[in-house]
Amino acid sequence: MEGLGLAPAARPLGLFVHTFGCQMNEYDSLRVQRLLAQDGYALCLDPSDADVIFINTCSVREKAEQKVYSLLGRLRRLKQRKPSLVIVVGGCVAQQLGSALLERFPYVDLVVGTRALGSLPRLVQAARRGALRTAHLPEHDEEGWRELFGQTEAWRTDIVAPVTVMQGCDNFCTYCIVPYVRGRERSRPVREILQEVQLLVEKGAKEVLLLGQNVNSYGKGLEEKQRFSDLLRLIARETDVARIRFTTSHPKDLTDDLIQCFVDIPQLCPHIHLPFQAGSDRVLERMNRRYTARDYRRTVDLLRSACPEIAVSADVMVGFPGETEEDFQATLDLMRTVRFDTLFSFRYSDRPYTAARLFPDKVSDEVKARRLTELQSLQACITLEKNREEVGRIRRVLVESESKAGDGQMSGRTPQNRIVNFSGSAALKGRIVSVKITEAYAHSLKGRLAVGECSQAEAGPSANRRPADGDPDGQGP
Ligand code: SAH
Ligand code: SF4
Ligand code: F3S
Repeated sequence: MEGLGLAPAARPLGLFVHTFGCQMNEYDSLRVQRLLAQDGYALCLDPSDADVIFINTCSVREKAEQKVYSLLGRLRRLKQRKPSLVIVVGGCVAQQLGSALLERFPYVDLVVGTRALGSLPRLVQAARRGALRTAHLPEHDEEGWRELFGQTEAWRTDIVAPVTVMQGCDNFCTYCIVPYVRGRERSRPVREILQEVQLLVEKGAKEVLLLGQNVNSYGKGLEEKQRFSDLLRLIARETDVARIRFTTSHPKDLTDDLIQCFVDIPQLCPHIHLPFQAGSDRVLERMNRRYTARDYRRTVDLLRSACPEIAVSADVMVGFPGETEEDFQATLDLMRTVRFDTLFSFRYSDRPYTAARLFPDKVSDEVKARRLTELQSLQACITLEKNREEVGRIRRVLVESESKAGDGQMSGRTPQNRIVNFSGSAALKGRIVSVKITEAYAHSLKGRLAVGECSQAEAGPSANRRPADGDPDGQGP
């Protein structure tokens, strides 16, 4: 093109994003990238190249909040070196503290709450002109998901794409800050979700991960009556997505119609994340979870009888105020009977606004640490045993990327959400292939491409169930 007299393209503005916290925050960070891409911002990997820095924060435990402060502390020098840099803090700590963050960190330009992202382009533009320094914490994101209907060619998507279907939480578990920082439950309209899923598929996504703090109560407050199970069926029927997952489900709201989806919807992956938090009824009641350990076990039994190959993962916490040794043993008992495929475990931590911060009989740090270690070593055994049961099976794997180990292997996930590494070409990325599992480790599996072999799951009683992916021949390069 040299010599044609074209003006050199303007350097894109640099956007650096750092995300703490859960998948809802990951999704919001994608929204920020998409919104700002329409104003000419491109993602940069080094904060010193950035014109705008967006820090998406989490407040679920005290440690998460502390991490935010230490990162913000490190940004001060960057701003000194480049005064035109705009630093934005979003997410749950932003919502929790608002303008107090501007006071504590005088070099932060904007604090945007969890329902303010639609306003971000306008706020950033004003801040770059030096005309604005503010905390913006609206109750509802009035401007909606407009990045999906603007210049979508300016952004890309991953093979596995998150899609928030509802925001906020009305459950008020007594330990949890989320309802205070994410606000009341609000479901997105079905049409908007269908459009977004199809757009992502057209841009290359093969799997969508539907997100909400409690997806089971999707539909509350929508004009048109819809349950979460209806939404799943519509996505399966009206979009071309190969795989569907969702998180998080609340055990008290897991209805039969949702369980039936695992039987009827071939695209729905046989995996559920169903936090139980504790195995003692006394503790569950004080947590305001509104189910008993027996209810929980029964729900898992129902899921497993409907869909025998379903994987179950969960969250659990140790050291809730008043948790006795006997209560803790009840948690271990529940783990032994349910045998989770994977488990995320946390030490209870006091959070602002929550009821439990005022509960008596706090458990000491030493006891929490000991219980967590004991719980995690029990789960490590169960996870490894479950992974070993996979050896010899053939699983359909959605190939996502080169493996993290950097050993030339490819990496993907089984329908049950297990990571599998195997030798194969990078051209398989985005394909669903059959992989024979050959080795099991603590956090992943190893396998080899299985061309022409037939898995038991596909040939056995559930053979009438299309493998959860819709690419029956994607077996090799
Ligand atoms: N909406 C999801 C998860 C929200 S937060 C649900 O209802 O399960 C993710 C996990 O963090 C929770 O499942 C819980 O195990 C943990 N968590 C929440 N508040 C906590 C606190 N104060 N201390 C320790 N862990 C906490
Ligand atoms: Fe927090 Fe409970 Fe809501 Fe989950 S359901 S976000 S744990 S209040
Ligand atoms: Fe953290 Fe907020 Fe998610 S507190 S876990 S980022 S909803």
